[in-house]
Amino acid sequence: MPSRTLILAAAAFVALFAGAAPSGDAASPWTEATIGAPTRQADFSGRLSAAQLQALMERGEALFTAKFTTVDGVGRPMATQAIIPTKSKRPIQQSFQRLPGMDSNACSSCHNDPVTGGAGDFVANVFVSEGFTNADFDTTDPQFSNERNTNHLMGAGLIELLAREMTAELQAQRSMALNQARSSGEPHTVRLTSKGVDFGAVTAEPDGIVDLSGIDGVDSDLVIRPFSQKGVIGSLRQFTVNALNHHHGIQAVERFGPRWTGEDDFDEDGVEAEMGAGDVSALVAWQAGRPPPSRIAPENDQWRRLSERGGDVFDDIGCGGCHRPALPLESLVFADPGPVDGAGTLRHGETENGAVYDLALLEWAKSLPRDESGAVLVPLFGDLKRHKIADQQVSALGNELLGQRFVDRDVFMTSELWGIASTAPYGHRGDFTTLDEVIRAHGGAGRDSRDRYVALDDTDRAALIAFLKTLVIAP
Ligand code: HEC
Ligand code: HEC
Repeated sequence: MPSRTLILAAAAFVALFAGAAPSGDAASPWTEATIGAPTRQADFSGRLSAAQLQALMERGEALFTAKFTTVDGVGRPMATQAIIPTKSKRPIQQSFQRLPGMDSNACSSCHNDPVTGGAGDFVANVFVSEGFTNADFDTTDPQFSNERNTNHLMGAGLIELLAREMTAELQAQRSMALNQARSSGEPHTVRLTSKGVDFGAVTAEPDGIVDLSGIDGVDSDLVIRPFSQKGVIGSLRQFTVNALNHHHGIQAVERFGPRWTGEDDFDEDGVEAEMGAGDVSALVAWQAGRPPPSRIAPENDQWRRLSERGGDVFDDIGCGGCHRPALPLESLVFADPGPVDGAGTLRHGETENGAVYDLALLEWAKSLPRDESGAVLVPLFGDLKRHKIADQQVSALGNELLGQRFVDRDVFMTSELWGIASTAPYGHRGDFTTLDEVIRAHGGAGRDSRDRYVALDDTDRAALIAFLKTLVIAP
């Protein structure tokens, strides 16, 4: 009979090696796995308490900053960077490649300026080429991809919530037009506006056909897609699943798993189920929970006076027509999965374990200003709308050659200017080192306002810049 000591030693041995299995827990700090034991989505479902939200965000931060490894599932030898799961035609020769990716080890390798979750320098630019299925492209020629500078994720949860409320409002206006047309037997036109932003008009016919030719700055399904500088991605969750595959070759089960591809290891790198829904939720929660950038009151007298004047100039010359200083948000309650995602990103009906959390639980939310009706005023300096931003004479921002998702080449979503003082370089490609340059580069729908900027005297121009320099991401 084995002695008691032997049994204890065997138990200790088993415990040791159970701990050494690929898990990022503290018991095995030497492990080369960074994802570790998957987050159980069921542990974070329903309405989350403050403590649950905190725990989920902590896990999210660990994942956002993790330098993923092949043990985690880095590598997609037989899959491309495309958003829709796509097999590569032949095994990819160089697994890391700045053009089609994989192009980095961690989310925070690019989103790190001036804090984790921030923006990126030119060196962190990404080549966006959705439709490109041959992963061997090896040129920075803009005929093959659009080059984009890394934007920051501060306040991203507020942005997504604004977009959801605007989508619901625009879609309700379309339904109203349909009802009116049906009941009156006459065509009925409604103006599409949400939170003071105008998106054109739709005309409904009594037979249920809707004429969408008059819509402006939004997709024909009237879904506001606030992410990417093109304004074509609807949710943090969708962006996260895209980014995991593109940058890291980590394939989320909700898109690349058996449900949509019929395969357990779609990228054929030998690792199955690389990232589950619970871990994607953790990444989403951390991003949604980022505090928004803030506005400093300069201690330097001259800067303070100039920046106050600059705020007025900003309004006077029409910058605020697109860069709206604030948009009102009714509710801070964030549901993940959210209401607008399409196939391949986890959706409402596809899980019983959705999470709902109130961003008001987070410390930063307490200092957000509210209007008289109690709505939070989100100080984004944006309108979540797309605009044509180049013309014949002022064309620098029209430098892309490929359209993206049916959006014209020279049309981009208004950049949110909150945090702008902390996120040089500027413009979607990061071509501009100064604010003055990127303002002068506004053509198209921004042309009038830009011409008025150019015509200002030196003091007013300096005042405007002094104002923008108060919009910071706190270190
Ligand atoms: C190699 C650099 C790089 C890495 C790594 C990277 N990103 Fe990004 N990220 C970018 C760039 C560039 C953009 C802008 C894309 C565009 O405008 O088309 C962006 C945009 C985003 C956005 C949209 C922000 C907005 O307001 O439009 C989100 C969300 C995001 N990234 C999340 C992530 C997550 C999550 C990871 C890790 C899984 C990640 N990123 C890894 C470069 C990177
Ligand atoms: C018609 C809408 C519109 C108007 C008016 C407008 N902008 Fe913009 N702005 C945009 C768009 C769209 C972009 C994104 C351009 C790009 O990078 O493709 C942008 C980008 C910017 C950027 C760079 C942001 C970044 O993250 O790199 C700054 C700074 C800026 N605008 C300031 C201003 C100022 C100051 C004014 C007034 C003189 C102004 N804008 C007027 C739509 C507008």
